[in-house]
Amino acid sequence: MRLVEEKSRAKINLILDVLGKRDDGYHELEMVMQSLGLSDSVFLEKIEQEGILLETQGPAVPQGPENLAYRAAQLMQKAYGLSGGVRIRIQKEIPVAAGLAGGSGNAAAVLLGLRRLYDLCIPEKELLDLALTLGSDVPYCLMGKTALAKGRGEELEVLPDCPHLYVVLVKPLFGVSTAEVFRAYDQGTRGPKPSLRDAILALWDGDGQALGASLGNVLEETTCAMHPVIRQIKAYLAQKTGAYGALMSGSGPTVFSLYETKESAFAAAKQAKRLFQAQTFLTETVQQGEEGYGLPL
Ligand code: C5P
Repeated sequence: MRLVEEKSRAKINLILDVLGKRDDGYHELEMVMQSLGLSDSVFLEKIEQEGILLETQGPAVPQGPENLAYRAAQLMQKAYGLSGGVRIRIQKEIPVAAGLAGGSGNAAAVLLGLRRLYDLCIPEKELLDLALTLGSDVPYCLMGKTALAKGRGEELEVLPDCPHLYVVLVKPLFGVSTAEVFRAYDQGTRGPKPSLRDAILALWDGDGQALGASLGNVLEETTCAMHPVIRQIKAYLAQKTGAYGALMSGSGPTVFSLYETKESAFAAAKQAKRLFQAQTFLTETVQQGEEGYGLPL
């Protein structure tokens, strides 16, 4: 049987701004997204028995329809009348409910993997529309790289490649619900607005230091009000580790920091692991087709 493998990369938000609330209840966003070397591997193969057999490791990762990857396979089977069943095995490295698009990335990998496995000819726009029905970050996860995402997250524009930087991720042991964070945001706990212009100029200049100074996420203050330890992690990474900058990713709770050298990133990750009750990773920014690495400490 043919086995298809897709990489599902973690992402960070270099910028996350909320422009307003929409009539459909979602928020109008403006985000700069960046793919990382830290990734899950998604393996897909056809099976004779009808349905979807999802295999994951660890109790935190569901194996049924609660998993976005399962729903992505259901959607593809229905939309394209795929015959037989499919076995999907996900080797998880990216922490769950972390603000790193782990679940969204797995769903995008299933869409791409099934398209390959069944040799389907699906126009990009159609795949993006399917992706959006699964979640707001799934369209971006189809393309990866450095991108500007607007609307709910589905209006995508390619940005100049992010300069190569080493990235430390610090994920406290709890997860957060994106819906809950947006609800709290609506009730008024908001951080300062980031400057998209400054971030894009830094990308154009390939200037890691300027990029670090431009990082911003309006949801950071919202999630910090619920879980103050995030503020402590960010202050430590930003002020004590020689980072270009540090920020909470997405709706949290993971905080990332950016470095020019692997040595300074490694030292920061080791110290953060010692100081905080958190999962800590050392990884790097990657572009399409690049492998990159992402290792837990
Ligand atoms: O689209 P997704 O299912 O990933 O979003 C999770 C939750 O985050 C939504 O139910 C919604 O409450 C909130 N959200 C939002 N506006 C967005 C994206 C997500 O309000 N653009």
